[in-house]
Amino acid sequence: MHTFARRLHSDQHSSEGDQTTQQTKGLVLDQGWRYDLTVTLADLLLFRGQRRAMQWRTIALANLRPGERALDVGCGTGTLALAVQRRVGASGYVAGIDPAARQIASARAKAARRRLPIDFRIGVIERLPFDDGSFDVAFSTLMMHHLPAPLKRQGLAEIARTLKPDGRLVIADFARKQDRQGRATRFHAGGSDMAALAALVAEAGFSQIEIEELRPRRFSSFPGASILTARKG
Ligand SMILES: C[S@@+](CC[C@H](N)C(=O)[O-])C[C@H]1O[C@@H](n2cnc3c(N)ncnc32)[C@H](O)[C@@H]1O
Repeated sequence: MHTFARRLHSDQHSSEGDQTTQQTKGLVLDQGWRYDLTVTLADLLLFRGQRRAMQWRTIALANLRPGERALDVGCGTGTLALAVQRRVGASGYVAGIDPAARQIASARAKAARRRLPIDFRIGVIERLPFDDGSFDVAFSTLMMHHLPAPLKRQGLAEIARTLKPDGRLVIADFARKQDRQGRATRFHAGGSDMAALAALVAEAGFSQIEIEELRPRRFSSFPGASILTARKG
């Protein structure tokens, strides 16, 4: 299982239809439906549902209201954005960006099957394709550890630019490898130093920064995770 999951972290550049994966210094995952299959199996067999619980907690911490505008940066195959769209309803607007053509194709297919009008685009955190002050909330889940340090700083400034004054930021990421214990040390994916990330978030112009820790359950390989919340300004 871990070997299968590790294969997903290859830096691939594909095309899907007339769309091509966008270049970035971040680590791109470009596996489409195979990503969802792996995530589902890993959550069922290794994490005892904690990854899904992390997603629901991430959404809950955003305090979404009907009619709000939300952005998911590094949206992958769009699972979080689908749930967010249900919260903001028909009067709201949800966008998701990811550099990977196959992830965006999968996300669009999932949204079309559910008849949810989500604006999924190929894009990168380096240059978010949205005007200043476009969003009430910005999400990033399990994405920050895919970026080298200078790109985290640049990306957080971009997110701040696209948020409205007082806009909310919600970032979830796995615990760093060196902070994991027991079975979780075997899980391949990287994680974030949340204290260091909080410093970058403050530097990008956010305040009211809080971090909630999700600890692994007994007999789970879930690596532990934290969810950071903050407000612009
Ligand atoms: C582990 S996946 C998480 C996907 C999704 N947010 C989730 O929670 O399942 C990390 C994602 O970050 C994306 N990514 C890598 N570099 C990026 C960049 N420069 N801008 C935006 N997303 C990027 C990858 O393509 C990948 O889909």
